[in-house]
Amino acid sequence: MVKAYNGALILADILLLILKILYYICESVYKFFVPAEEKSVAGEIVLITGTGHGIGKELALRYASLGATVVCWDVNQESNEETVNEIKKTGTAAAYAYQCDVSNREEVFSVAERVKQEVGNVTILVNNAGIMPCHTFLDYTIDEIKRIFDINVLAHFWILQAFLPSMIEKNHGHVVALSSLAGINGFPNLVPYCASKFAVRGLMEAISEELRTSSKGKSLIKFTTIYPYMVDTGLCKKPKIKFPSAMPLVSPGQAASRIIQAQRCNYREKTVPPFWLLCNLISRFLPDDALRCIIDFCDSGVEADS
Ligand SMILES: *[C@@H]1O[C@H](CO)[C@@H](O)[C@H](O)[C@H]1NC(C)=O
Repeated sequence: MVKAYNGALILADILLLILKILYYICESVYKFFVPAEEKSVAGEIVLITGTGHGIGKELALRYASLGATVVCWDVNQESNEETVNEIKKTGTAAAYAYQCDVSNREEVFSVAERVKQEVGNVTILVNNAGIMPCHTFLDYTIDEIKRIFDINVLAHFWILQAFLPSMIEKNHGHVVALSSLAGINGFPNLVPYCASKFAVRGLMEAISEELRTSSKGKSLIKFTTIYPYMVDTGLCKKPKIKFPSAMPLVSPGQAASRIIQAQRCNYREKTVPPFWLLCNLISRFLPDDALRCIIDFCDSGVEADS
């Protein structure tokens, strides 16, 4: 009797699971055609790292124009203040510049404390700062490899440790991290960079799962991981693109708009440009050798720095 009951229960559970899966498949098809509404960021406190130039700077300008209070972190005080001055000239929002070496955990914590006192609790965090030296694997120095991980990966940990607690307490917040297409596929001359960007992807997926399960699904803190193609920021010193008209470098402004759109729509993952995510999904179904043929055909990536 008990056995039969258990059997029926399991069957019901499986049926329910199948119904839920079908429901969410339909929902995602619907969402594909009817894009999500972009939530407002007015009044939010947005912290962006690496705001001295490139994507970080564009993000700061755009978030400010949307009415957010912008907290700009960069290791270079001068260029960071330029960004903040540009924002202040428009007069639309409050902006603050802080000099911070995000690879230094103590510095992250002391600057975070100042931000909390002088500006308030950060509600949107954009971990953007990163470096990308390009060499063949054996040409990297020990310091270079460590530095790539300090800035591209460990900094995310320290900044999250500093700002996630108040987000959890208020059950309100959004964490955005910049990974890369090099966080989905491996590229020559970029072994440590690829490894660091794969790490960011793992960090983001695991932490969002942990919050979801530990809150029993009640956590409202959102996570968005961005995978840009090569962006024209100077990070990519020697890009190699076989079909530049079909696959041009992305401009920092374009990348920033896409990132903000993804954040405001609560997308979990987004490539820039968006079609790469689909390309990647499809490519994973191909036999390995077929994928290599496509990679050789496209013949794009980065050359080693001299
Ligand atoms: C920031 O959050 C902490 C709790 O995490 C709270 O005690 C504090 O009052 C908040 N500060 C502001 C300005 O809201």
